[in-house]
Amino acid sequence: MIEAALRAWDGEMVVTSFDRPTGAWIVIAIHSTRLGPATGGTRMKEYPDLAAAIEDAVRLAEGMTFKFAVTGFPRGGGKAVIAVPGSLDPEDRRSLLRRYGTLVHRLGGLYYTGPDVGTSPEDMDVIAETGAPYVHSRTLMAGGAGDSAPATAIGTFEGIRTVCAHLFGDDSLFGRVVVVQGAGHVGRTLIHLLRDAGADVRFADIDERAVGEVIQELGVASLPPDLVYDEPCDIFSPCALGGVLNEDTIERLRCRAVAGCANNQLATAEDVSRLQQRGILYAPDFVLSIGGAMAITGVEAMGWMPEEAEQRVIETVRHTLTRVLALAEEEGVTTVAAARQLADERLSPSGR
Ligand code: PHE
Repeated sequence: MIEAALRAWDGEMVVTSFDRPTGAWIVIAIHSTRLGPATGGTRMKEYPDLAAAIEDAVRLAEGMTFKFAVTGFPRGGGKAVIAVPGSLDPEDRRSLLRRYGTLVHRLGGLYYTGPDVGTSPEDMDVIAETGAPYVHSRTLMAGGAGDSAPATAIGTFEGIRTVCAHLFGDDSLFGRVVVVQGAGHVGRTLIHLLRDAGADVRFADIDERAVGEVIQELGVASLPPDLVYDEPCDIFSPCALGGVLNEDTIERLRCRAVAGCANNQLATAEDVSRLQQRGILYAPDFVLSIGGAMAITGVEAMGWMPEEAEQRVIETVRHTLTRVLALAEEEGVTTVAAARQLADERLSPSGR
């Protein structure tokens, strides 16, 4: 399993380390340093086995390469996965993060990390104790640029508007029905932005506490998690984990477009054609979800002001997605193929 996954992958390297004190596996996948140091978040969760953790890390790292390349941002693609054996006690978790930071540090700038599913800016502060200066998105208190989720949500929101402009000739969200899957860090902010723009937002999350909080804070309606695919809507926005668009769920969709921020939404490469056959426009996840990584890296490594970073995220997502949708139409290819083509031009030896 592991050998097959690594042989099929075209990335540069995978570093694995078994953390004996906690029994966790650390996997750092470096897909490409062609455009700059490999950059991507640290995902911390349980996996069935090491092979599953490696498979997730290599796919996520590849996604980061495309994110940066398609938008023309000077970073490469990488991702780390910490496969934990169940929930850890807070002190064990902290010491694991410090050992992980040491490993990041030893890579000497080949890989820069940041938060992702299961980690936070507070965790980045801990990782930076040993991993500095290769840790992005530390808290403001610690001198970092803070949470990356708001910028990711802003970029995704702009992506949804761009999709509406393309489909309906008008980027207004007023009265549009948007179903958001996942009310985590990014999903919640996105729901807020959509609601304020006058959209009719419905959302779901498997975490009942999160559902209760969002209903109370934002006054939007929730759906049972297994019914999000069947809900008639203009836009379906996957903002939870990956792999949600597959043979079974695509059949059930009753939307005009899929536009969300979860990484690796398509279960297999064929699923984008399945969406196309059903007449559903797919906004590639790696275009919509660039906001967090771009804004934080821009502020911390390129000296952007926070407001400037936000504006650049908005312009970048709108401009990139508009190009991708136009190219897909011109060439009669899927939106993913068009986005990959733009990314590949930059990644090719003659590209920038
Ligand atoms: N989780 C972010 C992503 O998937 C990764 C990131 C955040 C990288 C912040 C750098 C800084 O794009």
